Amino acid sequence: MNKIVYVAMSADLVHPGHLNIIQHAKSYGDVILGLLTDKAIASYKRIPYLTYEQRKTVVENIKGVEKVIPQHTLDYTENLQLIKPDYVVHGDDWTSGVQQNTRQQVIEVLKEWGGELIEIPYTKDICSSDLNRALKEIGTTPQIRMKHFKRLLDNKPIVRALEAHNGLTGLIVENTKVETNYKTKEFDAIWLSSLTDSTAKGKPDIECVDLTSRLNTLNEILEVTTKPIIFDGDSGGIVEHFVFMVRTLERLGVSAVVIEDKIGLKRNSLYGVEVHQVQDTIENFTQKIQQGRDALVTDDFMIIARIESLILEKGMKDAIRRAKAYIKAGAHGIMIHSRSQDSTEVLEFCHAYNYFDKKVPLVVVPTTYNHISEDELIDAGANIVIYANHLIRSAYPAMVKVASSILKHERSFEASSHYISVKKILNLIPNDWSASQSHNPSEIKI
Ligand code: SPV
Ligand code: MG
Repeated sequence: MNKIVYVAMSADLVHPGHLNIIQHAKSYGDVILGLLTDKAIASYKRIPYLTYEQRKTVVENIKGVEKVIPQHTLDYTENLQLIKPDYVVHGDDWTSGVQQNTRQQVIEVLKEWGGELIEIPYTKDICSSDLNRALKEIGTTPQIRMKHFKRLLDNKPIVRALEAHNGLTGLIVENTKVETNYKTKEFDAIWLSSLTDSTAKGKPDIECVDLTSRLNTLNEILEVTTKPIIFDGDSGGIVEHFVFMVRTLERLGVSAVVIEDKIGLKRNSLYGVEVHQVQDTIENFTQKIQQGRDALVTDDFMIIARIESLILEKGMKDAIRRAKAYIKAGAHGIMIHSRSQDSTEVLEFCHAYNYFDKKVPLVVVPTTYNHISEDELIDAGANIVIYANHLIRSAYPAMVKVASSILKHERSFEASSHYISVKKILNLIPNDWSASQSHNPSEIKI
């Protein structure tokens, strides 16, 4: 009987390095290929470009692959115990970095039946990370970008969005990466906030920055990023106008629009009842949702209904009643907003939401209750978390500090520790624009 050889891979962008591993593995016996599921991949890095089914079609047709089975976690244990292979074959590039723990675990489990780990020299000059970078440089299409959001929702425990209000902040959301606990973490999506877009233009957040102007900001961000975009559509305007907004955003490749159930002069939610704000009727708002849905061309664009009952102190019952009505009207997602310093009311809503018969993805915006962790939000059942205004809030004090220091000292020398060097700012956006796509802002030090 032939020996059994187990090889696990994501096989998103298949290259000669993969084929080399399979060929080596084949020389030891029959190769069973454990193909990481989208969820398994999403647990430690960005989700793959190709779906599991697409990747499976590719790998099962590679010469030397006997059989393909899903590997549901980054950890091999479950599959290894299932098939008890004589060998596991892997490239020798996992002794450090995000996969070193996985490697150690493989060695331990194989010991149980005397299996052996075989590591073969890593194929030089080609690797998935370089191919990923090259793909990013090519860019994306509206359709691919739009669809990507639903795949994230299907495969991530929570989809993490950060606000951007121009090309530069878009690049920060696109490219910032942090490696911790053997995972590469990054933002999944971009929130195009009305507050920060208006503030960056020196205007109040009252829908006075019109759609054309918002679309200019959107276009700046679309030009330099590939990640999905959630557009803050404010109240959506009157029903007759909202349908045009939906069509435009969908055509541009935005993944979702969020509209809030307010009517008349919209003020920022975080003012709460300090200022006059009026909540829309359920009848009118559900009609807006329905007409927006009717205007859609694709199945991929999402209309997310944002509930302002807690903001306007209308109570939990009202929030829940509205959530049910908006879902019934066809909302593809619900955003529950709160301006409470503690998370009690949001968690109470999430708890009630979990018992709904019909649920759609749930969005939360922990601006005021910012002590809450993503793990707690996942436990509560939230599906999308939006960090709605943090880039502009952090940039503003830094800029004011430098401006004040220059005035005070009548030169810029004293403020030097608050800004990056000319060399760094010149090289921040390389002349070859596409290279900026692969730059990691978190590596820049002042
Ligand atoms: C925004 O970011 O513009 C929002 C969220 O709508 S909030 O500012 O909290 O209302
Ligand atoms: Mg807003």
